[in-house]
Amino acid sequence: MSVNQFLKPITTEVNEKGHISIGGCDLADLAKKYGTPLYVLDEETLRGICRDYKNAFKDYPNIKMMYASKALCTSAVVRILDEEGFGFDTVSSGEIYTVYKSGVDMSKVLFNGNNKTRKEIELALDLKVGRFSVDNFYEAELLNQIAEEKDLNVDILLRLTPGIECHTHEYIQTGQIDSKFGFDLTQVDEITDLIVNKYKNLKLKGVHAHIGSQIFELKSFADEVEILIKEIERINKKFNLKLDEMNIGGGLGVKYTEEDCPPDVKDLADVITEAMHKHSVEIPVIYLEPGRSIISTAGVTLYTVGSSKTVNIDSKIKRYVSVDGGMADNPRPSMYQAEYLAEGVNVSALSNRVKEKVTIAGRYCESGDIIINEIELPKPQAGDVLCVYNTGAYNYSMASNYNRVEKPAMVLVKSAQSDIIVNRESLEDLILHDNIPDRLRK
Ligand code: LLP
Repeated sequence: MSVNQFLKPITTEVNEKGHISIGGCDLADLAKKYGTPLYVLDEETLRGICRDYKNAFKDYPNIKMMYASKALCTSAVVRILDEEGFGFDTVSSGEIYTVYKSGVDMSKVLFNGNNKTRKEIELALDLKVGRFSVDNFYEAELLNQIAEEKDLNVDILLRLTPGIECHTHEYIQTGQIDSKFGFDLTQVDEITDLIVNKYKNLKLKGVHAHIGSQIFELKSFADEVEILIKEIERINKKFNLKLDEMNIGGGLGVKYTEEDCPPDVKDLADVITEAMHKHSVEIPVIYLEPGRSIISTAGVTLYTVGSSKTVNIDSKIKRYVSVDGGMADNPRPSMYQAEYLAEGVNVSALSNRVKEKVTIAGRYCESGDIIINEIELPKPQAGDVLCVYNTGAYNYSMASNYNRVEKPAMVLVKSAQSDIIVNRESLEDLILHDNIPDRLRK
């Protein structure tokens, strides 16, 4: 079983006090020490999935693992991924800068995105980012122009839209034909011609696609590889090139609830390498850009229960239990109807309580701010600490200050040690960037 198939961090257990612990740290103690809401990240789980990926592809000679840093990009996370030998897929100056400041060899960084600005391109070139994935005609011209100004040659991949619809939420599909990302296959010759004959500072190395996220069907990846190889073979022949790099993006799913059955990383590797071996093209470099499957399972969020409310609708009772976080630290339920599992951390104390169906509501002023709709739990009471699992990916990275609430802290746990890796925001932080024009000052 690979780590993405676990619902909880692999170190999760109930300790001698009858509390849930992760990375050897008692979650009730963490909540007390650091306050809630609190993001907790388990280092062993994170390193475990990195090793699963590396082992799964160990027989394929030219694999390059790139962590999609959009899933969670903090300096400590970057350090761990760097130690595990991963490169980084980045999509903004902020991600590039974080990776750079964390001491990463910038040749292992790829710059993605459908509307990179001049300023971002300049930063990426100045910091010597290894690859650009060129998304559109406008960018190709702009990148070539800036590279010419700086007298640089830039290694690029072409972002393609392979026309694959995978079964996932429509907001996180990206490979379908009407996607905003990339060149569709009818535009490939035109852009290749421009690169070969006009954009002298761009050096085409290969192709790139990303078909979507939270994917369970491996067939979608096989189809994608098939399309990308055919394109490489076709372009090489038509333009007399030797493209030998193929970035197949990320997308492997994780287990948010008991019903989810994501595939094993080993099976993903088999599907990809099998599809490669069907072709005569010389074994290209394959880039993989997983984000969610790398970081999601390692993360949990702790909340404290506050108010509750019982509503009687048509003689059906609905009970809301509100916690001290919600859509600003985890926007996924309200954005994608994402589902999660929660548990009270004080397992022994909860064992004598009756179970009931509750809806875990967030604290934000929005009816849609529901973290879990109807889950059976030992009757939650004010002061209980709840743990919501699988919140490592796209939670902190999409967090906001909605309702002017401070973003939570994040701690890294390992071998019974906990370290802050993101400080909790303070009230002062919230007004740090405000400015009052002189005429309004008191
Ligand atoms: N590569 C590219 C070009 C991408 O656009 C993405 C994700 C990835 C790699 C990583 O995909 P992953 O392995 O994480 O599935 N906020 C949404 C997910 C958006 C994904 C965007 N692109 C969510 O919370 O579900």
